[in-house]
Amino acid sequence: MHKAAIFAAEIFMQTIIGEDIEKARHYLMNGELVGIPTETVYGLAGNALDENAVVKIFEAKNRPSFNPLIIHVGSWQMLEKYVEHVPAKAKLLADKFTPGPLTFLLPKKNTVPDMVTAGSDKVAIRIPNHPLTLSLLKSLDFPLAAPSANPFGYISPTTAQHVLEGLEGKIPYILDGGAANVGLESTIIGFDERENVLLYRTGGISAEQIEEVLKEKIAAAQISPQKNPETSGRLKSHYAPHTPLYIGNIDELKKQFDGKQIAIISFTRQIDGIDENRQFVLSPSGNLAEAAKNLFTALRLTDKLKVDVILAEKFPDEGIGRAINDRLGKAQAENKK
Ligand code: TXA
Ligand code: MG
Repeated sequence: MHKAAIFAAEIFMQTIIGEDIEKARHYLMNGELVGIPTETVYGLAGNALDENAVVKIFEAKNRPSFNPLIIHVGSWQMLEKYVEHVPAKAKLLADKFTPGPLTFLLPKKNTVPDMVTAGSDKVAIRIPNHPLTLSLLKSLDFPLAAPSANPFGYISPTTAQHVLEGLEGKIPYILDGGAANVGLESTIIGFDERENVLLYRTGGISAEQIEEVLKEKIAAAQISPQKNPETSGRLKSHYAPHTPLYIGNIDELKKQFDGKQIAIISFTRQIDGIDENRQFVLSPSGNLAEAAKNLFTALRLTDKLKVDVILAEKFPDEGIGRAINDRLGKAQAENKK
């Protein structure tokens, strides 16, 4: 590479956190990236129709380019501009859950660059439920491609500060919309040839909620690596802290790691014999939605303690508890090997 080019690439960009939608809009219209708040996690947004902006997203995240991006729009009308066809069940679920944490995998129109979908003829698209980002999206005449705003493989950000920790100097602006309400990524659904729903990633909307609306059971999507682009949420290791994490019955795990420096993530209660400052109770009242909201912050905080191991309790396998267990599963030590 030419020396001047190397120097240019190394110039440190100052990253500002603010609440100015106009500023965010200005950067996005000029092909720059902006951290945006959503109800699930913060996104690293760029103009989905501009291939240069999309390349910047992959670079800033260090994300492999075979890994497709979700695009975000401000309304159902805008969504229909980018997809060829909407199955009846998609509309039914959209009426109930959007704006909200539900992403639809639908046949894309040609205007959506192949780079966004990693070559797939389907695009993942959703309407996020956050007032700042909804007004931003409504003010733009293009959709925003936005993966979670974390370096590839690390824990998704649920505050503007988390975004800064991972991407400082790589993006000019982070739109601060407070702590994310849901705290886990959106649920991703697709459709089979009979237009029945397939679950690609569990998240902010539970399978039970979807089944209640459809009045039928839904199946998990079978991902064939040859035919489908990798769904990063389905990679074995993801959302992972640097500290080894183990899941199970805390009392048993505690014995197993006797003598080690331990931090704990539990559902409702503290564990005897461990320093209180190293314990993160996600919901003392036993509310799974509250636990989901606190999960990623707790993972980040335990990671910062620099202990030997993080021990996490297994959550009830129901509703959003399943999404919590899914994320913890991908954070665990065995999957990092
Ligand atoms: O809640 C969310 O969905 C957040 C916020 C920012 O909207 N976004 C998010 O993006 O979680 P990301 O990139 O971290 O995860 C998107 C997932 C990945 O697992 C990706 O592989 C999958 O969606 N995906 C995107 N487009 C796809 C496609 N065309 N076919 C199959 N999977 C796709
Ligand atoms: Mg992600």
